[in-house]
Amino acid sequence: CMLHPTPSTTAPDPSAAERKTDHVRIAAQPGVEHLSGTGLDRVRLRHRALPERDLADVRLGCDLLGRPVRGPLVVSAMTGGTGQAETLNARLMRAAADHGIALTLGSGRPLLDDPDLLSTYVRAGHPRPPLLIANLGAAQVRRRDAADRARRLVDLLGADALSIHLNPVQEAVQPEGQPEFAGVADAIARLVAALRPLPVVVKEVGFGLDPQDVALLRDAGVAAIDVAGSGGTNWAVIEGRRDARAGAVAAAFADWGVPTARALCDAVRIAPELPIVASGGLRDGVDAAKCLALGAVAAGVARPLLIAATQDEAGAAVETLLEQLRVATWAVGAASTSDLGTEHLA
Ligand code: FNR
Repeated sequence: CMLHPTPSTTAPDPSAAERKTDHVRIAAQPGVEHLSGTGLDRVRLRHRALPERDLADVRLGCDLLGRPVRGPLVVSAMTGGTGQAETLNARLMRAAADHGIALTLGSGRPLLDDPDLLSTYVRAGHPRPPLLIANLGAAQVRRRDAADRARRLVDLLGADALSIHLNPVQEAVQPEGQPEFAGVADAIARLVAALRPLPVVVKEVGFGLDPQDVALLRDAGVAAIDVAGSGGTNWAVIEGRRDARAGAVAAAFADWGVPTARALCDAVRIAPELPIVASGGLRDGVDAAKCLALGAVAAGVARPLLIAATQDEAGAAVETLLEQLRVATWAVGAASTSDLGTEHLA
C-alpha cells in the first residue's frame, strides 16, 4: 500500500518518509483548509462585453526568473523522497512540461541525505518544465554548509532556481519539527550572495508574509517572493491530524496568517521592484487573474494539483487553469496576462 512505504524506500530516516507520506495523504483529505478565505472573493475583475479581440489572440507567455514560460502559473512545492512522491512528481512534471509552466519540487532535504532518491523528484530522460525550482526549508539555510548543500541539490535536480520555505507555525506544531528560526533572514542573505547568479525565491507554506518579512527578504537580495498566504491549505491543521497533542495545539491556528490577497498587496507595495508570486488558496484561473491584476507576476497552486495528480489528471487540471486564465484575461479586455493591472479591477 502506498500509504505505508516499506523500508526499501531507501530513506535513511524512515520517520521522515512516513511523515511525507502522511502529509500527502492528509493534505488530500477534506477539512484541511484555513477557516477564512484568501480575501480574493472581495476582489472583482471588470467584465467587458466587447473585449475587441479574439480569445485565441490573448497571450499567456512571459519570462519568469529569466526563463520563458507559456503561462504565469507555478506548480507549488509539494513532495519528493518516497515511492508515492515518485509517481506524483512524474505526473506533475509531465503536466508542467506539456503546458510549459514552472514547477517547484518538494523539499530536497531527503535527497541530500540519500542521492538514490533522485528518481522520486526527477526521472532521467523525462520531459522537464521550462522553469524547475528546487526547494529547502529554513532550518537547512541556517547550517554552516548551507550553500554547498544548496548547490549540490540544484546540481542533482538540474534546477534553474532554489526556493526556500518559511514555515514557523508548521514546525512549531509538528512533533518532529525544528522551530529554530534565529538568524534565518541573515542566513538567507548569505545564501543569496553565495549562490549568485542562481535565483533564490523565498516562500511561506500557506500562512503568508508580513510587510516586515517582505522588507527583510528584499534587503536579503532574494530574486522573488512567493507570499503563500492563508485561505488554502493549512499546515497546522494537517500536522494536527497526525498527532493528538499536535492537534490540540493546532486547533487555535485554523484561522491564522495573512490572507493571500492582503499578503500580495503588501508585498507589491513594500517590494515594487521584486517579482511577487501569489499563492495560497488559489483555486481557479480567475483567482490567478485577480492576483496578476493586483501585481503578481505568477500564481502558484498546490493542493488542487496534488488531488488531480493522485487521480492522474494533473495535465487536465493545469489545462483548465490556463484556459480559465485566458478567458478571464480576454474578458477584462487585456491583450496578455502581463498586461493585467489594477485598471482591470471592478
Ligand atoms: C506542500 N507545501 C510545501 N511547500 C514547500 O515549500 N516545501 C514542501 O516540501 C511542501 N510540501 C507540501 C506537500 C503537500 C502535500 C502540499 C499540499 C503542500 C506547501 C505548498 O507549496 C503551498 O505553499 C501551500 O500548500 C499553500 O498552497 P495551496 O495548497 O493552498 O494551493
